[in-house]
Amino acid sequence: MLALTKLHPEFGVTASGVDLAAALNDVAFKEIEDASFAGQVMVFRDQRLTPLQFHAFARRFGPPEPHVIDQFHHPDCSDILILSNVVRDGRPTGLADGGTYFHTDYSYLDIPARCTMLYSIVVPKIGGDTLFANQYAAYDDLSAAMKARVENLIGLHHYGNRDDLNETSRTVASVLTDDQKKRMNWVRHRIARAHPVTGRKALYAVAGSSFGIEGMPDDEAIALLDELKAHATQPKYQYRLKYSVGDLVIWDNASLLHSATLIDPNDARTLWRITVKEPKP
Ligand code: SIN
Repeated sequence: MLALTKLHPEFGVTASGVDLAAALNDVAFKEIEDASFAGQVMVFRDQRLTPLQFHAFARRFGPPEPHVIDQFHHPDCSDILILSNVVRDGRPTGLADGGTYFHTDYSYLDIPARCTMLYSIVVPKIGGDTLFANQYAAYDDLSAAMKARVENLIGLHHYGNRDDLNETSRTVASVLTDDQKKRMNWVRHRIARAHPVTGRKALYAVAGSSFGIEGMPDDEAIALLDELKAHATQPKYQYRLKYSVGDLVIWDNASLLHSATLIDPNDARTLWRITVKEPKP
């Protein structure tokens, strides 16, 4: 039976009483799905999953979208992206330093991510946590004047980290090949976005892929996005998740920003990641 414990006073839950490797009936799955949207971050501890079991669970939330960085897809399942700093025989085994800045997954796609799941395989000795920032709370706390200002604004998004475009930096968005870059387009998303499941408004992707605002001069747009980002990533909106081997975390991309944290590159960290998209409108 699903049992939930709070991780943080405002958001985040640990879920116990469920073996995600077992077949879940529709009632059991719906309970998990509802709790994941209510909790925004949901962690299942001590799971033992093969790539295909992980995939079978993830795809019940929506259509998995393989990451554009296809050189690190899992050999048994291309919907799994391997996040890892481990180098074997001189070759990286996964994507290192992925997403080490606040962002929202796939906000650079027309149909963005519903939720992302990470399954923890190797945990570093120090750090390797993921930070989450609650964008419902950040929106709710805006002044009435700022809510009115952003109400009808459309953010312009592209793959990248607007705060770091230096391809040699560890906090740049993971660098794409020329072919992968050609697949990336500009897309539009509301800044004050109604959550597609709960209907509740949240600030959406004010950090990371947002590079402009429709109809606004660039300097004014960046100043506004930077002001919103500074507000939305304050420590009071954040929760820091620490991993153990076997943890599976699900997070709601429409109501959160998240950021990986930099660690010693020689301290091994490996997770498998699946991101599922929102359904087509
Ligand atoms: C991500 O942003 O997808 C990765 C987060 C992490 O590695 O902590």
